[in-house]
Amino acid sequence: MEGTSTFPLPSTTDHVRYTDGVLTLDGLALDGLVADVGTPAYVYSLDVMAAAMERARAAFAPLGGQVSYSVKVNSNQAVLARMVRLGAGFDVVSGGELSRVLAVGGDPARTTFAGVGKTDEELALAVRHDVLVNIESADECEALNRVAAALGRRVRCGIRVNPGVTVDTLAPMQTGSAKAKFGLPATEARALLDACLAGRYPQLSLLGVHMHVGSQVPEPSGMVRAAEVLLDLLEYAQQRGLDEFRRFDLGGGFPIDYGGPAVPTVEEFAAALTPLLGGRRDLDVYLEPGRSIAGPAGVLVAQVLYRKHRPGQRMLVLDTGMHHLIRPALYRTDVHRILPVLAGPSAGPTVVVGPVCESTDTFAESAELPDLAPGDLVAFMDAGAYGMVMASHYNTNRKPPEIVVENGAARVARPREQWSSLFASERP
Ligand code: LLP
Repeated sequence: MEGTSTFPLPSTTDHVRYTDGVLTLDGLALDGLVADVGTPAYVYSLDVMAAAMERARAAFAPLGGQVSYSVKVNSNQAVLARMVRLGAGFDVVSGGELSRVLAVGGDPARTTFAGVGKTDEELALAVRHDVLVNIESADECEALNRVAAALGRRVRCGIRVNPGVTVDTLAPMQTGSAKAKFGLPATEARALLDACLAGRYPQLSLLGVHMHVGSQVPEPSGMVRAAEVLLDLLEYAQQRGLDEFRRFDLGGGFPIDYGGPAVPTVEEFAAALTPLLGGRRDLDVYLEPGRSIAGPAGVLVAQVLYRKHRPGQRMLVLDTGMHHLIRPALYRTDVHRILPVLAGPSAGPTVVVGPVCESTDTFAESAELPDLAPGDLVAFMDAGAYGMVMASHYNTNRKPPEIVVENGAARVARPREQWSSLFASERP
C-alpha cells in the first residue's frame, strides 16, 4: 500500500489502494474516474476479472477443469466481451442472460443453462442454439423433450443434483441442502437416468451431472462431500452403458474476502477435490465461478448527501442505496467495506444509509470513516459481483452508470439512465 491511509486493504483488493491519499483502482484515482459521469457509479477493472479467471483455470488445470463465467454476477456487455476474448464458457440462468451472451459473441456450445424455473420460451432459445441445459426436475425433462421435439432437435443435458449437503454460508446462499429447491436428490436423479435409458426422453442427450452447493462457501469440505454424491451417480450412469455421461460440473461458490474472516483460496478448493477427481479419465471437470471472478474487481463510488445524527451516533446519507447495492439490506449490513475516496483519520463508527424509504436501506451500522461532509466521496469495496445486476428502479430511481478500466484506460460501459426512459414504454 502506498501513500497515507488509516484504512489497510486486504490482499484481494491490491488493485484498489491509496496513492498520495486518494483511493485508486488500477492506478486511476476514483474521484477522477467518476468526474464526468457523476455519482453513484460502478467501476470495474476488467484486467482484475481476467486475472481471476486465469487463476481459477490454473488452479483447476491439473484436474482438467474448464471454467465458465457465471453471468448472473455481472452481465455488462463489456465484462462478457472480455470473457469471450479469454475463451471462457458461460453459465446463464435466464433467456435474457443467454441473449446477452449471444449478443456479445459468446460460444453457445460452451454455454450452460441452469435454474429451477425455465420457461418453454427459454428452453426453445437454448435448444435452437445448442446450449447445454442443466435439468432440475422430471417435469422439466418432459418440457424440454417436448420443446426439442417441436423444433426437431436433440438437446444436450446435464442433471443438476441436490447432494443434500449444507454448507456453512448465509442461509439464503445455501443451495445444496436437502430442503433447498435446487436440483434433484440422488435417488430421483437415478430414476431420471433410468427413464432416459428406457427411451422416455428421446430428444435428450444426457451428458453428466451438475451441482452448486452454495455461494461464498467458507471451506472446501462441503463441496467435496457433494462431489462424492455426484461421482456415485456418474458411475451409475456409466455402468449402464452411458459412456458419454462424463460432465462433472462443480458449479461456483468460491468465496472472496469481504474483509471478514480469512477465506480459502481457489487453489485450496482444487487441492481438496484432487483426491476424488484427480487422474480420472472417465470425467470432464467444469466449474462456473462468478463472485470470485468479478467481486473484488469492482467498487461502487457514491457521494455523501447529508450528515444526520442519531443520539450518540454519526450518520451519513448517501446518494446510493439498496436500489443500487441490495446485498447489505438483503443479507447483512456492514458486509461491504466502505472507504473514503480521500484518506483521512477515522472519526469513529458511522451509520451509513441510503435515500430509499425503507429502514433496511442501511449499508453499515459502524463504518470507520473520517468526518465526511456533503460532496465527499466513498467507495464500496468488492461490489463487482451481485451489485449492478441486483439493482432496481425502486422509487423510480435511475440505476448507476458502469465504468470499466482496461489496460489502464477507463470508458463508460453503460451511461446513467434518464428519468424519462424509466417510464417511456408505459401506456398512460
Ligand atoms: N452456478 C450456479 C448454478 C449458481 O446458482 C451460482 C450462484 C453460481 C454458479 C455462481 O456462484 P458464485 O461463484 O458467484 O458464488 N445474490 C447472492 C448470491 C446468490 C448466488 C446464486 N447462485 C449474493 O449477492 O451474494
